[in-house]
Amino acid sequence: MQQKAYLMVPGPTPVPERVQAAMHRPMINHRGPSYEAMFRDISARLKTLFHTDHDVLTYPCAGTGAMEAAIVNLFSPGEKVLVVTIGVFGDRFAEIAAAHGLQVEVMTVKRGAAACPSALAARLAEDEGGEIKGVVVTHNETSTGVTNDVRALAKAKGKHPALFIVDAVSALGAIPMRMDEWGIDAVVTGSQKALMIPPGLAFLAMNGRAWAAYEQSAMPKYYWDAKKIKKSLDKGQNPYTPPVSLLFGLQESLAMIEEEGEEAIVARHVLLGQAVRAGVQALGLQLFAEPEAASSVVTAVCVPDGVDGKALQKKMRDAFGVTMAGGQKELEGKIFRIGHLGHVAPADVLVTLAMLEMALTEMAVKVQLGAGVAAAQQVFLAARREEK
Ligand SMILES: Cc1ncc(COP(=O)(O)O)c(C=O)c1O
Repeated sequence: MQQKAYLMVPGPTPVPERVQAAMHRPMINHRGPSYEAMFRDISARLKTLFHTDHDVLTYPCAGTGAMEAAIVNLFSPGEKVLVVTIGVFGDRFAEIAAAHGLQVEVMTVKRGAAACPSALAARLAEDEGGEIKGVVVTHNETSTGVTNDVRALAKAKGKHPALFIVDAVSALGAIPMRMDEWGIDAVVTGSQKALMIPPGLAFLAMNGRAWAAYEQSAMPKYYWDAKKIKKSLDKGQNPYTPPVSLLFGLQESLAMIEEEGEEAIVARHVLLGQAVRAGVQALGLQLFAEPEAASSVVTAVCVPDGVDGKALQKKMRDAFGVTMAGGQKELEGKIFRIGHLGHVAPADVLVTLAMLEMALTEMAVKVQLGAGVAAAQQVFLAARREEK
């Protein structure tokens, strides 16, 4: 029998059948009235999801494209930005800024920990001349399974005039985001995570301060030019041919998100995270992230001593049908990551833990079969009792 495949990576995430079906609709003219109605509807719903009154710009690209769009639209070469990095994706934002000729100051946080708001406040307090034009943070660092307290970081940035920019690629839609209320100037996200559609769309929301910075920006831009996107958006259009099928999918996934409700989605992810962490710990495995910073959408687990991390991932995928992610860069081979983001339910977590128990047993790691599953079941049952 062919393996039934479980995609337990933190993106791309499983695409619900409803969304798949929506994407199979026949093609339409992207300059016609039905596209315009759909795109206006999607753009309005995205604002709700970002909790902003400002426009959310849609770019056909990977999340990294929207990160680059933020840099080229908001800054000029030679300006200084402070990038607070807690992992691979924070590092990437710093690299993009440097590639565009910005002066990049990197505040590096120990892997596995979250950024410290008071450290940010202290650094900005030293910047009396307002040399720092932008502060960049990652909402959920997918490479380490750590979530930053973005609200506290935004508060720590306080009245310093720098723009506050958040990479919410693996967070938005699953972890609370209040762009306007928290005073965030620009937010970036992607389609293949909590939004439950395939990769290929990314989004950039900019507030009034960000648009004012756009007007000052001397960075060369064409495809990423936010004003071109905004002008078209005002007409229910995109400047260039959009991936229409992905937008069919997005309209359906946004409907699903509204049906489940934001609060319920956030709570579901919190519960999935608790269950995964309880499960792996019951197997005697170590979590990589500091407990208070552990992500609700991806769990990083230390590869047990004597185990080849890549071989474990391969066995999970090929023998047991569960695809997990490995560690990136310096964490390659040291951790594996279980994604529990988007269209994921308790049953997926139980299958993953059950298969992990078998894979580890075959790799001669002493685990008690059923212990991980039982610990996760207890978490789910306790939540059900609380609900009643
Ligand atoms: C936090 C974060 N930022 C940025 C990205 C980059 O997104 P993409 O791979 O779509 O370019 C990712 C992708 O996993 C991510 O998790």
